[in-house]
Parts: sequence; C-alpha cells; structure tokens
Amino acid sequence: MQSVLQNSWQQGVEFLQTKYPILGGAMSWLSEHNLVSAISEAGGFGVLAAGSMSADLLRQEVRKTFEKTDKPFGVNLITMHPDLADLVNVVVEEKVSHCVFAGGFPDAATVRVLKDANIKVMLFAPSLALGKRLIKRGADALIIEGHEAGGHVGPVATTVLMQEILPHIKDVPVFVAGGISNGDLVAGALELGAAGCQIGTRFVCVDECIAHDNFKKAFIRAQARSAVVTAQFDPALPVIPVRALANEGTVAFNTLQLSLVKQVKAGEKDRKDALMELEHFWVGALRNAAIDGDVKNGSVMAGQCVGMVNKVQPVAEVIEELVSVARQRMEA
Ligand SMILES: Cc1cc2nc3c(=O)[nH]c(=O)nc-3n(C[C@H](O)[C@H](O)[C@H](O)COP(=O)(O)O)c2cc1C
Repeated sequence: MQSVLQNSWQQGVEFLQTKYPILGGAMSWLSEHNLVSAISEAGGFGVLAAGSMSADLLRQEVRKTFEKTDKPFGVNLITMHPDLADLVNVVVEEKVSHCVFAGGFPDAATVRVLKDANIKVMLFAPSLALGKRLIKRGADALIIEGHEAGGHVGPVATTVLMQEILPHIKDVPVFVAGGISNGDLVAGALELGAAGCQIGTRFVCVDECIAHDNFKKAFIRAQARSAVVTAQFDPALPVIPVRALANEGTVAFNTLQLSLVKQVKAGEKDRKDALMELEHFWVGALRNAAIDGDVKNGSVMAGQCVGMVNKVQPVAEVIEELVSVARQRMEA
C-alpha cells in the first residue's frame, strides 16, 4: 500500500523519474557534475547550471554527469545566454531528459526543438496568469520560486505563490522553490498540491558541492536577515533583484548600478548593454566568492534559509532528513 507521502508526490516522481521529487536547483558555478550526480544518486533530481558555461563545457559536464550516475538529471539554461541555440543543441544531442529555462521565457521555436526530441521543458511561473500561458506554450512542468530564494528573485513570497497558483494548476506538475530548508515545509508544499520542491541554498553546504570552504563557512555563519535583496535605483534600468549575503560585493554592485543608470539616462549606454553588464558582474562576482573564496568582495548568493544551515553534510543525508521529516509529518 502507498503511504500518504508517496501518494502526494506521485505526480512529481513520475515526471522526474526519481525516487523523491526533490530538485537540486541549478546554481551557477556550483551545480556541476559532482553535485548534480550526487543529488540524483541520492534519489533527488540534480540540475546542471549552464548559465556560465559554453556549449563545449556543457557537453563535457553532461557526459561527466552521465559517467557518475545513471539516474535522471536536468540542464538549466539562461534564456539571455548569447549561445542559447548551441546550448539547446547540446541538451538534444546528449539526450538529457529535462531542460529548465530561467531568466525569461524561451521562444516557441526553442520549446518545439526540445519537445520534438522528447525532452521535458520546465519553466518558472511568476504568477498564475503567466503560468497558464506557459503551459499553452508547451511547459511540461512549472516551478514557482518565492522572494526568499537565493540568487535572482521575483517579488512575491513562496507562501503567497503557493496559495495563488497550486490550487489552480492541475494539468502539469508544479514544483515549489524558495526558502525550503526542512521536511515540514516539503510536506506543507505537497499538502497544498505541489508535485515536489526545488532547493538551492541547503545544497551548498554538502560534501559533494565544490564551493570554496570560505563560501560554505559564510553560509554556516550567516543569519536569515543577512541574505538581502539588491534594490533597483531607477526604472530607467530595471535590474532583476539578487539575494546574497550583504558584503563589499553588494556595495560594488550598487556603485556599478548607479554609474550605469547615469550613463543610460545620458544616452551614453544602451539599456540592454547596461543590464548585460550587470549580469556579467554577478557571474564574475559569484565565481570570485564561490570558487575562489573571496567572500568579502565576491557575491555570496544565498536564500533566507541560509540561517538554518549549520553544518556541512553528505547530500544523501540532507535528502534523507528532508524526506523522513516530511514522511513523519504526513503520516501523523
Ligand atoms: C549560489 C546560487 C546560485 C544560483 N544560480 C542559479 C542559476 O544559475 N540558475 C537558476 O535558475 N537559479 C539559480 N539559483 C536559484 C536556485 O536554483 C534555486 O531555485 C533557489 O536557490 C531556491 O531557493 P533557496 O535558495 O531558498 O533554496 C541560484 C541560487 C543560489 C543560492
């Protein structure tokens, strides 16, 4: 007989073809073959972050992941990547089963290419209305990500998105992200109709994550309120907010944003180029902190649940803990 928990997550595990419907949210620089294969081996669903990769590097990473696990995993593509078409080709040619798009919505032709190759397409839905449109565009599953999350964030809290969207979308699985750090919340999301959860911050402090020790230590030291969102200074430059631990890197971002606002308003710089410059800043600053260990000047992107991260553990232990707490809660 199926347990209450298994019934609740059936849609999610069937879609992901995993033991548990827990996605390791893609994290630029960190979600490479080691972390991704470890999450999938532990029963979750790892996702390679291709935002900062070339097509050649993505191909290598996909192959290395396949060498380390025969379990399913996905690839996360950022729609504004200049080589998006080449990256999509790699996903198709290497026969990755699932593709997640972030940083905007892919055009219909891109979605078609993937669907024709039987690859499942997952899209972030910022609202109910957009979620419905994305399903019409071909999304096989949606992810709703709340303001609590680490990295680039939307304006609405996870709890509100869950209430707004989960009761109304039944045709495709909906995965919930942002601020999830324990099994109670996994159970809560499932009870409200989620197919599963996506977790980022909690998967940084695991043995299999290649993050620099300084980055992991910064996570362990941090409190929830240290993970702050950047402001938009002027509508002339509509920056996407980013949540990271407040440090000199945040100050450097603000300084750069101010200077770009001035240049855009003076007609010295194109708005699109200025926004791209800010995105490049984040990619470099995150690498600086996450890989090189400069947590003072780099970007320590982290969600608010960083306050509950207090040790480095094997990823399998984190996943088993999430599942056993969720199970206890749902069986009770
Ligand atoms: C360090 C870091 C880097 C991230 N990079 C990406 C990325 O490249 N693409 C993406 O779609 N999401 C990215 N995210 C968001 C995660 O995939 C995930 O959705 C989010 O972390 C979930 O919220 P949580 O941090 O509260 O668990 C990143 C998050 C963090 C903490």
